[in-house]
Amino acid sequence: DMGGHDTYMHKEISEQADAVDRVLRGRIDDRFSTVRLGGLNLDAREARAVRRVKILGCGTSYHAGLIGAGLIESLARVPADSEPASEFRYRNPVVDPDTLYIAVSQSGETYDVLAAVQELKRKGARVLGVVNVVGSAIARETDGGVYVHAGPEVCVVSTKCFTNTVVAFALLALHLGRTRDLSVADGKRIIEGLRRLPAQISEILEREDEIERLAHEYADARSMMFIGRVRGYPVALEASLKLKEISYIHAEAYPASELKHGPLALIEPAMPTVAVVPDDDLLEKNRAALEEIKARSGRILAVAHREQEKADHTIVVPRNEVELDPILMGIPLQLLAYHTALALGRDIDKPRNLAKSVTVE
Ligand code: M6R
Repeated sequence: DMGGHDTYMHKEISEQADAVDRVLRGRIDDRFSTVRLGGLNLDAREARAVRRVKILGCGTSYHAGLIGAGLIESLARVPADSEPASEFRYRNPVVDPDTLYIAVSQSGETYDVLAAVQELKRKGARVLGVVNVVGSAIARETDGGVYVHAGPEVCVVSTKCFTNTVVAFALLALHLGRTRDLSVADGKRIIEGLRRLPAQISEILEREDEIERLAHEYADARSMMFIGRVRGYPVALEASLKLKEISYIHAEAYPASELKHGPLALIEPAMPTVAVVPDDDLLEKNRAALEEIKARSGRILAVAHREQEKADHTIVVPRNEVELDPILMGIPLQLLAYHTALALGRDIDKPRNLAKSVTVE
């Protein structure tokens, strides 16, 4: 049942304010400015003993893991990274007893992720899951974890589950942070930021007509560049994947700082750039990248907290706490991919060559 929407993707994008509300519900502990995660299975002593976090997933879940790693590093000050699960399992990784491994999956059935979990467990590691489908294979194989509570996701491309997964990571990061160095005041700041998300998501979704118009302006592109820096880079990666999957327009995602090391050679009017430009400590650096693109006659669509002078168009999104900004900046780019694919007449819910869960190697 599409509930009045023309596609499941559109329905699922539209459900995100409620979905985020669900992942937060019952988990925030205002008294201690922390988060209670019932199924985590990691007591305070174990949480404090974690020396490193390694996140494993595929596709969109891997991208959510990249943002999750950033959240864990900034809120808990534990070194963290995210890697495609398939790469990890084929390189005979060093399995370290002080590392907390986290498997991320919407379906909970992705074979490469499941196989990575099984390999880790064989080697004695502790593996948690950040999973949407309750009772799925990965949920069962892991030692504990956080359910994402995005609700059923039918469209082959993931949207609401991506957003909810990142929010689940924010909860986990806050929880880890509060067992370590994160202050009560910072805990409170993040909790307040999390609570603002649903209304801010609705605010962004109300701007769909504007984003649709922009999609029509850029739908003629044969190829698109997506750039961001630090927290913005995984947003660029995910937005470029979304565009590729449903519109079949080729897209590249690069850290803005890497442009001058090669991809700048691609910039010309026929290759527009989508730039993720939050008002954070990297704003000036990002602006410099926009200038370099403009100097090569590149068209620019910015997602930012205020109009960007160098950009041809800016989608202005509401501000949250810097750590949580990537959650909001991804949402208009889901709509951009959606309306681009629609303008090109693509079969949005069932893109060619793809399946909802990849249960084979
Ligand atoms: O169910 P999972 O989260 O484990 O799926 C992982 C990927 O196959 C999935 O995210 C894929 O990249 C989607 N088509 C993204 O839209």
